Amino acid sequence: MTHRVERVMIDRTQIQEMVDRLAAEINRDYEGQEIVVVGILKGSFIFMADLVRKLTVQTTIDFMSVSSYYGGTKTSGIVKIVKDLDVNINGKNVLIVEDIVDSGLTLLNLKDLLRTKDPASLRVCVAFDKPDRRKTEISADYVGMSIPDEFIVGYGLDYSGRYRNLPDVCILDPDGGKK
Ligand code: PRP
Repeated sequence: MTHRVERVMIDRTQIQEMVDRLAAEINRDYEGQEIVVVGILKGSFIFMADLVRKLTVQTTIDFMSVSSYYGGTKTSGIVKIVKDLDVNINGKNVLIVEDIVDSGLTLLNLKDLLRTKDPASLRVCVAFDKPDRRKTEISADYVGMSIPDEFIVGYGLDYSGRYRNLPDVCILDPDGGKK
């Protein structure tokens, strides 16, 4: 099956406005404090790079890479750490940065895991939220855009490893435009 980009869902101007708004909220909420921004690889890398450059609060960054396994019931999930944090987050204000929240299971398990390291606070900033896909109650503290359940790529999001480099968020046509 071939695929091609069908249309732009969120263009780069809208994305930059979204990032500006999120950064302003974060700068306001953490004024006078220091934060550790933790990007979850790989999808978050572009959003993270844009967001941290708009932060005026004292910031350090780190990355984690995780893979999720959904066994047992549909609401259970296990996050396996592929790359753990390098910094010690004990007593720190931690802000997880994700490109997308879908079922919410990755975030649920990730938050449980990071809580065991006793951060002073733990919040989540997500660029794109698909609430229709949620399998758990979790929600992010900072949400860029709530979007419908369509398969999107670009701005860090992939299909089979491709399209992460597209500057706009695009919808993929599963028929490759052959219909
Ligand atoms: C994506 C995304 C989140 C997760 C969200 O990562 O970056 O981590 O899926 O899905 P969920 O809410 O259903 O758990 P993915 O596993 O595709 O890896 P990637 O970031 O390397 O593309």
